[in-house]
Amino acid sequence: MKLRSPHLLGLEGVPAADINLFLDTAVTLREILSRPIKKVPTLRHITVLNLFFEPSTRTRISFELAEKRLSADQINFSKATSSVTKGETLLDTIWNIEAMKIDMVVIRHSVGGTPYFLSQHCDSKIINAGDGTHEHPTQGLLDMLTMRDKYGKLEGLRVVIVGDIKHSRVARSNIWGLKTLGASVAVCGPTTLLPYEIEKMGVDVYTRIEEALDGADVVNVLRLQQERQSSGLLPSLREYSIRFGITKERLKYLKPNFTIMHPGPMNRGVEISSEVADGPDSVILPQVTNGVAVRMAVLYLLSGGVGKIE
Ligand code: CP
Repeated sequence: MKLRSPHLLGLEGVPAADINLFLDTAVTLREILSRPIKKVPTLRHITVLNLFFEPSTRTRISFELAEKRLSADQINFSKATSSVTKGETLLDTIWNIEAMKIDMVVIRHSVGGTPYFLSQHCDSKIINAGDGTHEHPTQGLLDMLTMRDKYGKLEGLRVVIVGDIKHSRVARSNIWGLKTLGASVAVCGPTTLLPYEIEKMGVDVYTRIEEALDGADVVNVLRLQQERQSSGLLPSLREYSIRFGITKERLKYLKPNFTIMHPGPMNRGVEISSEVADGPDSVILPQVTNGVAVRMAVLYLLSGGVGKIE
């Protein structure tokens, strides 16, 4: 089966069939991660450039691991030790690396739209690993896979995303992907951290956490970006925590078989209590494991999905 786009720039507009193909392929490839020898030769003909212009732990390491598990060759670009520090542009950087014969670029950048820009000017397949406040499609896919693992399907689920929706690429990718697969999505946060006309994305909008949690299956808790306090969007982290923090007491509003998610990195005691983050209903670490499987699936399918999975 062929994907509609040769790149993965976001989940907006990606058809349900393609999202399901990513998720089903991730399940097939995930089995490799439990083997004594966690490696197959499937992508030994592919070279991937990992280009991270922003800090990352989970996304960067899981892409690197996904590439290694599939035997792709990889180049890890570091801005600090590159000629970008001498003023070389992003395009010149990529064109020069492409001249050395690479096939795919995984990019994280603080400017939204950078992956799209590269897709218009480069020959490589482009994978968005998070661009500004725009999208983080592989995070959206791994979140959906983690929900599907537990509930069997996404259709009919009630998912609440809590926190700084305005600046969250994770929220956007989750909303696009979940809506496409038939889930009902709500967002909740202080008015200053909700984007203007967010309801036009087809989500329910709440500013009171108890109402948002009422009857939900899944709570996806976003990191409260601490710089929002200095920019005047929040009076204090303590007040945010009191009004929106996900604590054990607040879990009573959820459906009985509820799930707690967080994309990381977490601010324990701010947006989520340690009791909840480490509790029996948390799937925060399974999300990370699924991140490797989803990134293997994305690399495999974008490379043509032709190598044998043994
Ligand atoms: N969830 C996520 O994108 O984490 P990192 O910033 O550590 O990659």
